[in-house]
Amino acid sequence: MPGDKSISHRAAMIAALAEGASRIRDFSTSEDCGATLRCLDQLGVRISRDGSDVSIEGCGRDRFRAPASPLDCGNSGTTMRLLAGILAGQEFESTLTGDDSLRSRPMQRIIEPLQMLGAAMSSAGGHAPLTIRGRKPLVPIDYELLTPSAQVKSCILLAGLNANGRTKVTEDQPTRDHTERMLHWFGVPIETGDGEKENERFVAVTGRTAFAGHDIDVPGDISSAAYFIAAAALLDNSSLEIESVGFNPTRTLFLKQMQSFGLNVTVGNVRDEANEPRSTIKVEPAHDSTPAANPKSLLTLRSALIPQLIDELPLLAVVGSQIDGGIEIRDASELRVKESDRIAAKVEEFEDGLRVNGPTRLRGAQIESRGDHRIAMTFAVAGLIAEGETEIKDADCVGVSFPEFFELLSSVVE
Ligand code: S3P
Repeated sequence: MPGDKSISHRAAMIAALAEGASRIRDFSTSEDCGATLRCLDQLGVRISRDGSDVSIEGCGRDRFRAPASPLDCGNSGTTMRLLAGILAGQEFESTLTGDDSLRSRPMQRIIEPLQMLGAAMSSAGGHAPLTIRGRKPLVPIDYELLTPSAQVKSCILLAGLNANGRTKVTEDQPTRDHTERMLHWFGVPIETGDGEKENERFVAVTGRTAFAGHDIDVPGDISSAAYFIAAAALLDNSSLEIESVGFNPTRTLFLKQMQSFGLNVTVGNVRDEANEPRSTIKVEPAHDSTPAANPKSLLTLRSALIPQLIDELPLLAVVGSQIDGGIEIRDASELRVKESDRIAAKVEEFEDGLRVNGPTRLRGAQIESRGDHRIAMTFAVAGLIAEGETEIKDADCVGVSFPEFFELLSSVVE
């Protein structure tokens, strides 16, 4: 699998904030991470790319330069929200913009904490374009996440690096922790612990500490691997082994869910590199011809599980269509504000989720991806198990996270 998208964004941005050189191996091939590199380049960061290796000469705290034109984040929410955290601590004005989809996604969730930190923010009614007039130093804050979002948490932590004191973020539903891990890898002191209320966890950084560049090896993207794992698990008599895939516990719930359906997905050779676990994932034909562990009961996914499965939920809906009892996904209204509304589909639709009955025989169909990479890849998997032909419109959008998707899929499907 190509390098993990979430980890690659963080590697590039934190390397840009470091003093001196960092080399990133297996950097994500996604257009989203390309947008992050382009924006950093506009901010004066020296970057060179050689195949999947990226070298970055960091600007430390003070050597970013005001961009001559708006920073175009393309389709990438992670680029916009994390970069906003860095720009909040720079003493110049900058504007972040993106494509139609990104300009319709909610930004108030980062505007509010960044204003509390002392940045002047203006937006188009809570949407991009976002104009940020940063401040040095920022004022440290203690913030409880209102929406469980790793992007918002990371935005605040990156801004906290330029605050005069300790910035603390508390969450009551665990979200991916790549920013915390990457900061630790770069030697930035990070505190984590339990919050005051049940299920709460906090993470805190103390700002204004300089740190040096580091080399990073990025593991394969588990969210990209998920489409292959699902395809192999759902197609009769298929086996597949994927090496060196990220195995961060905040991202692996999809695998556990597949196992709980009775599908034969196993994990081995778990090891750490650059403070991120990775593993080899194997899919083999199910031992039993009735895969559901708990036949005929509907599986409901909700609340604290949702952030840990957020990018895999559309795919799980397709897997659920093949499982006795089907699947219901609730408390997932965040899906409506992703690259497209990922709930609106011809299944039972709730304000905050959807229900898919299973097992269902799927028929090939014409699919409108609405330019959303995860929808296009999800329906490629559905198309493989459906009878007849499936045509996915605007399928090139897979490049946002996984440009080699169709080529790689054709190479493993007979
Ligand atoms: C991401 C966090 C998630 C996820 C997105 C990548 C990240 O978004 O859906 O694909 O890299 O932090 P939210 O933080 O908005 O849930």
